[in-house]
Amino acid sequence: MPDAAVWDAAVPGQGTPENAPKRVGGQSGASVQALGTAGQVCPTWVVGDSRNLPDLVAGEVDLVFSCPPYADLEVYSNDPADLSNAGSYVEFAAAYRIIIANAVAKLRDNRFAVWVVGDIRGKDGRVLPFVTDSIQAFEDAGAYLYNAAVYVTPCGSLPLRARKAFEATRKMGKTHQHVLVFCKGDARKGAEAVGNVQFGVGEASGADEGTTLDYLDGAPDDAPDASDAT
Ligand SMILES: C[S@@+](CC[C@H](N)C(=O)[O-])C[C@H]1O[C@@H](n2cnc3c(N)ncnc32)[C@H](O)[C@@H]1O
Repeated sequence: MPDAAVWDAAVPGQGTPENAPKRVGGQSGASVQALGTAGQVCPTWVVGDSRNLPDLVAGEVDLVFSCPPYADLEVYSNDPADLSNAGSYVEFAAAYRIIIANAVAKLRDNRFAVWVVGDIRGKDGRVLPFVTDSIQAFEDAGAYLYNAAVYVTPCGSLPLRARKAFEATRKMGKTHQHVLVFCKGDARKGAEAVGNVQFGVGEASGADEGTTLDYLDGAPDDAPDASDAT
């Protein structure tokens, strides 16, 4: 089985430090990482194929978070259940849609799913619609795109390499991925359920301050400029 915590899907009943984190399934002797100190929530790591999510995780969850395989951009193992071995993008996408449908079914109403995805290029050079397919899979599963952020990755040596690649093939250097947030239900209720979050340095912010969700009120003038521009 792929060594992933159900694609990092958040699981219910994570427990407290007294109720130590468990790792379920996977190879025997797999390590358990105890993150908890007093007052912190400890995760329960469930190892398995996310296609089997209904059997792996009982009940509903408050958040789903994943950075899934980008098809075969990176191959993680030779396990046939590892989606990076799917064989073709079409086969990958079919399995990926099942996983998203299962994950959204597990998600409580009025909650969020956070997904990190990036464009990928097929072996024939064309860009595969991985980001679009991710959004469509969530929409089909009953969750809508709520936030779309660009994750700017470090340039590294890209500025040195970009010119040669662009001149030879017109491929543009890529230095970003996407962080997509989906909502199942009512985002305001979701924010209330999540409660106060740390916003900035040491500053607690709550939904009751009414700043982050104002653009849901419907008046176009309420929409932040940055959202309009995307
Ligand atoms: C892009 S990596 C993300 C890893 C980790 N979340 C991170 O950000 O470092 C994708 C992960 O999905 C795992 N994976 C592949 N197929 C899987 C499947 N069918 N079920 C669960 N996890 C799978 C891979 O083993 C890999 O660890």
